[in-house]
Formats: sequence, structure tokens, C-alpha cells
Amino acid sequence: MLNPKISKLLNDQINKEFYSSYLYLDMSNYYYDNNLKGFGNWFAIQTQEEYAHAMLFLKYMQNNGEKITLNAIAAPGLKYANLKAPLEEALKHEYFITASINDIYAAAYEVKDFRTMQFLDWFVKEQGEEEQNTDDLCKRFDLFGSDPKSLYLLDNELSTRVFNPPSLVI
Ligand code: FEO
Repeated sequence: MLNPKISKLLNDQINKEFYSSYLYLDMSNYYYDNNLKGFGNWFAIQTQEEYAHAMLFLKYMQNNGEKITLNAIAAPGLKYANLKAPLEEALKHEYFITASINDIYAAAYEVKDFRTMQFLDWFVKEQGEEEQNTDDLCKRFDLFGSDPKSLYLLDNELSTRVFNPPSLVI
């Protein structure tokens, strides 16, 4: 059994990861609607990754005999002012998720829940990569987004991204 506070934070994180998946699906749809299928694909892969993250948290709770409560997933409801806007929103969202995972880590440290800290280590590293990848895409959009030919090439490149399931085994 986990400490009730840790259990609640982990349960909340399941919802945050499912929301991330839903948010990125909304962004994927936005780019498909704007005929940037590569960007749409990049976000569709993000959607799959976030679903996988949610399932890892869920599995960890199951393995620890914790009761899981699935709460409502909020509608993204964002309006994007321009083609770069989803990228900026995605980066902002990753910072939010990093802070959330750090909060769970800090709470686990407080109650000497070393098992949960070890489980979260993978996510701490993953968040570093998520932030870096999204920031990199923002910067590349700044460089190439205003030139149609360059945007076309970038979109083509992003269309080749494939889903690699998380390496973490629980
Ligand atoms: Fe599950 Fe993009 O963090």
C-alpha cells in the first residue's frame, strides 16, 4: 500500500497524462485541418506517448494494490491564433507536467517512499526529453515557418516520426 497522499497524486497524474493525450490530439487535428500532415503526425505520436504514460502510472498503482479512480478528462478547448501557437502551448504544457511530476517526487521523498521515487526517475528523464523536443520544434518553426518551401520540408520530415513504446518496464 502507498501513502494516501502519494496515491492521490499518482491517481491525479493518470488524469493529467490522459488530458495531455487529448490535448495533443486536438493539436494534431488542428494541423491536419491546416494541411500540415507532418505536424499532425508529430502530435498524433505525442498523443500515443501520453496515453502510454497514463497507462504506466495506472499499472504502477495496480501493482501496488491501489484503487484507481478515473476522473473526467477536460476538453482542450483551445483556439490557435496561428500555426506556431500549438507548439508554444505544447511547450507550456510540458513545463506544467514536469512541475507536476516533480511535486510527486518531492512528496515521495518526504514520506521516504523510495519505490515511487525510483518509478518516477524514468519520468524525470522523459520530461527533460519532452521539453527539449518541443522547444526544438518551436525554434525550428521560428527559423523555417515563414518560408513555404522550408515549411514544406519540415512538415515532410515530421511525417516520418513513428511511435516507440516507452522503454520503462513496471
Ligand atoms: Fe507525459 Fe509529455 O508528458
